[in-house]
Amino acid sequence: MDYVRLGRTEAMVSVAGLGCGGHSRLGMAGSASSAEASRIVAKALDLGVTFLDTARSYGTEEAVSLGIRGHDRGKLFISTKSWTGTDLSNRNPDPLPVTDFVANLETSLRALGTDYVDLWHLHGVAPFQLEHVYNELLPEMHRQRDLGKIRFIGITEAFREDLRHEVLQQALPTGLFDVAMVGFNMINPGARRRLFPLAIEHDVGTLIMFAVRRALNSRENAAEAVGRLIELGEVDPALVDPADPLGFLAAHPAIKSQVEAAYRFCRYEPGAHVVLTGTGKEAHLEENVQSILAPPLPAETSERLARIFGQATSISGE
Ligand SMILES: NC(=O)c1ccc[n+]([C@@H]2O[C@H](COP(=O)([O-])OP(=O)(O)OC[C@H]3O[C@@H](n4cnc5c(N)ncnc54)[C@H](OP(=O)(O)O)[C@@H]3O)[C@@H](O)[C@H]2O)c1
Repeated sequence: MDYVRLGRTEAMVSVAGLGCGGHSRLGMAGSASSAEASRIVAKALDLGVTFLDTARSYGTEEAVSLGIRGHDRGKLFISTKSWTGTDLSNRNPDPLPVTDFVANLETSLRALGTDYVDLWHLHGVAPFQLEHVYNELLPEMHRQRDLGKIRFIGITEAFREDLRHEVLQQALPTGLFDVAMVGFNMINPGARRRLFPLAIEHDVGTLIMFAVRRALNSRENAAEAVGRLIELGEVDPALVDPADPLGFLAAHPAIKSQVEAAYRFCRYEPGAHVVLTGTGKEAHLEENVQSILAPPLPAETSERLARIFGQATSISGE
């Protein structure tokens, strides 16, 4: 495993982070029990992963608790989250009362079986929620930090809706956040221009989500997503084979697969620190950690991706 400094937190964490949410939720989105899901967590630790990302809303905090049992807590970096409205829908205009916010942290700590979390995130913040965040929730986060229940303060964007990183563009320059979770992938590299320069300037640690997601987990899904980008006028159809627009990746002798390329693409982006990988399958986890540890993509491949998708920002890859 390789380890990286997570921005101004100064913590050294694994470059591959286990995402305990997403479409798989460690397999719990299907039929896996917490005990079964905890095997993915334990496997990640065996592979040298020290960064674990969960959230109150994922239902996987108990699995993390079981998976880390017997490990040195001080060597792990655990991230969890609370929503900031009365539910996770970022269209809901009702702000979360501070008492409920604190109750979410207490529930997370109990579920995780730990006295503190390394990183507590404001989850999927919408632009209209920022005022409540600044005025009510951040002062409470500072109080919880002073009490020793959280070490660092994080914010995640709602990438599906906030495709141009509006919230993080406003939040990062305030200097109020230690870490940000950013949507970034081969078919929406917008953060390269709009966000990573800000993260570097303010020394904010970054976690990459949506590296693969649904759009990049199969050739068929990639063809559908790129077809949409062509319809939207963000990809020039002359530059791709519409039937297999990313086929050139796996055809390259130095690239194993489309999924491998997707993780390698994220890993080496300047300003990106931890690449999250979410899965319910041990074999995928093993493969993905290897991908994140593989060398940068060949220069001609990176250039080709930039030519094709350099202007694409209209879909997240959800
Ligand atoms: N706003 C937010 O705060 C927010 C939003 C989204 C995500 N996140 C965080 O980011 C993490 C990463 O996002 P993500 O879960 O979407 O992760 P991802 O790694 O981009 O994509 C994971 C998806 O791809 C599939 N997959 C993984 N490895 C594969 C492989 N080798 N071959 C084929 N398919 C593969 C997985 O299904 P299998 O189970 O079949 O492997 C899963 O459905 C989440 O787990 C969560 O922690 C946060």
